[in-house]
Amino acid sequence: MKPILVTDDIYKLTMNVHDMLFEEMWEIPNGVTLNSFLVKGEKLALIDGVCGWDGAPERLYDLLDQLGLKIGDVDCIVINHMEPDHSGWIEEIRTLKPDVQIYCTKMAARLLESFFGYTTNVNVIKNGQTLDLGGGKELQFIQQPNVHWPDTMFTYETSTKTLFTCDMFGSYGTCEDRDFDDQFSKEDREFFWQEQIRYYSNVLVTFNKNAIMAIKKAQSLEPNVIAPGHGPIYRQSPAAIIENYDKIANFLVDAPLDEVALLWGSMYGLTEKAVKHIKKVLNKKGVPFHEIHMPHEPIGKVMSMCMRCKAIIIAAPTYENNLFPGVVSALEELGKKKIGKKKVLYTGSFGWSGGGYQEVQRIIEHHKLDWELAEGIPFAGSPNEEDLQKISTAIDALLA
Ligand code: FEO
Repeated sequence: MKPILVTDDIYKLTMNVHDMLFEEMWEIPNGVTLNSFLVKGEKLALIDGVCGWDGAPERLYDLLDQLGLKIGDVDCIVINHMEPDHSGWIEEIRTLKPDVQIYCTKMAARLLESFFGYTTNVNVIKNGQTLDLGGGKELQFIQQPNVHWPDTMFTYETSTKTLFTCDMFGSYGTCEDRDFDDQFSKEDREFFWQEQIRYYSNVLVTFNKNAIMAIKKAQSLEPNVIAPGHGPIYRQSPAAIIENYDKIANFLVDAPLDEVALLWGSMYGLTEKAVKHIKKVLNKKGVPFHEIHMPHEPIGKVMSMCMRCKAIIIAAPTYENNLFPGVVSALEELGKKKIGKKKVLYTGSFGWSGGGYQEVQRIIEHHKLDWELAEGIPFAGSPNEEDLQKISTAIDALLA
């Protein structure tokens, strides 16, 4: 791994991570890239860090060494966000250079104390405050709370108009040799678009209102470069990643995706008969759909697939007067994350009493989801011809 020149005297120090669960819960089949940045003025600033995963400190030394630098040359650390995937290097650096100056928000300072016991050489920034690094480099700190934790901020290098955004504008998917958007093939662009949706649906969607504010702030700055803590750097078209995030934060309602999430579970194959019919109908219509077979699918896939689809078809039986638990857990997570603006249809089998549809209603109401729920189609035992016809008609209405 080599240090990568982003723009004039600004370097990306990066590592690609595979074979782990992000935040110990989200599967990342395509890995993730963690980015840290060096800004070289007369003083040397390190912005963001990466987790202590996979020999990170040793890699930092190696990357600095390749630039003819060592830890003792770092004058300041800028913490945009204290989550350990970005702050894992701090302890190592403070041990080697106790007088390194840390710049962060008041909330991040609290976490520095509770995580590491640091209270000295911690400079709490004011919103808009600047730090002159000399040599024409100036950092401006812009508080941008709750993208992702309350401690978060952007850092803006004013001479190059480089905006360091940490989690915001990030994506899953390792960069490998795709560190910049100007290196993307058409396939890479599509790959990272999907990975942005998946990352956002797992990590940021709960903070949607704050993300929308952050999008507006980024738009107002008109940066030349957007440098997130995860994924590629956007320097050919920073407006494109802002636009992508704007679409995602608006639940892709205006995106050209017209897809269906088929969220289903079946205990003994009776509801599955309806699922087979639904798939036949969708295939006949040529509507792309994503099957989420619960409880066999990871929760990260539930989030990302439901996020990207305009409609969700729930097919699950009644279980003890309520809904099949595998699907309940998926809906509860969607509710907690407040993944909104969906058209939703329910169908499913029941034995002697229903209850599945009512639980879908309860979950939507409980989480105040702005979902448009169609009339449910519960059926006794196996779906008969009339039930299947009702499902077909309801799918027509759902996709109208
Ligand atoms: Fe990438 Fe909220 O940390």
